[in-house]
Amino acid sequence: MDRPYFPARTFSFQKLSGPLGFDVYVKLGATKYAKIFAAGDILELERLSAYILKGTEHFYIPQEHQRAFIGAASGVLDQIAKSNGVYDSDAEQVLDEVTSSVLTDVFSQNVLNTESHKTLSTVISSYVDLAKRQPSVFPNLLKLARKQDAIYRHQVTTSIFSTLIARAYDPNNLDLIYATGYAALIHDIGISLLSLNHDEHAMNIDKNEIKKIRMHPNKGADFLRKINGMPPIIIATVLQHHEGFDGLGYPLNLKGDKIVLPARILHVADAFASHISGGRNAIALPPAMALHSLTLDRGHDPAVVTALAKLLKLG
Ligand SMILES: [Fe+2]
Ligand SMILES: [Fe+2]
Repeated sequence: MDRPYFPARTFSFQKLSGPLGFDVYVKLGATKYAKIFAAGDILELERLSAYILKGTEHFYIPQEHQRAFIGAASGVLDQIAKSNGVYDSDAEQVLDEVTSSVLTDVFSQNVLNTESHKTLSTVISSYVDLAKRQPSVFPNLLKLARKQDAIYRHQVTTSIFSTLIARAYDPNNLDLIYATGYAALIHDIGISLLSLNHDEHAMNIDKNEIKKIRMHPNKGADFLRKINGMPPIIIATVLQHHEGFDGLGYPLNLKGDKIVLPARILHVADAFASHISGGRNAIALPPAMALHSLTLDRGHDPAVVTALAKLLKLG
């Protein structure tokens, strides 16, 4: 099996508490791993330190336990926030770890070519680095990662597919690729500014809650507008990411190419990512079926759906 274990830096383990939600391995050889803790164990710091002193830089988490690890890392972010009230380099490291863990999780679905994993990791990290340099963006990104880690995960996933679809759509247009990928990483940032009982992708939410949630594109765009130097295309993309190609989306009911291209790409990436992960549906769809359902949905730009088909080599 390809990449069955995800490397996690030893750093965040030292901050974990309570019973583990996942198994922990050390790497013994190219493909040999040994389990040092099992899910349910309490982490023994002494044993952990012994490995770190011996020069172990990573522990390994089996792929099926990655979501649990992401949840635990979000808990660490929460601890950091509570203990010193500010986000520091510790928080940045944990966020990086959560981000790369999501990447591995997406690649484990075998929809994408594994060769692009490394390149894409670099691209996504550069988006995260950009967010770190934008003082008010980063705390809100962290807030999502620690309070609503499903949304953070969703943003990273959408960013991955947005980057790839933008590249398939117009391979030499780096501005388009970068703007779409970055906007995707922060597109639901408006949710961190709403007081909600549920997240955007939850089931069984009442009417009032839906009304509130539908404010998140405006909230997000208003928030970004206040940031010095935020490119207008990023703001427009965040504002328009729920617009439909048929004019039936929200909040502005824009139609066709009145919607900025990165927002049309993000809309497809978002829908595809949730179809294949089973996000809003009970069951996860195979990529070909997910693509097919997008071709039938008039809310999506057919040219962008064609780019997705090209990317998946299903066109
Ligand atoms: Fe959204
Ligand atoms: Fe979203």
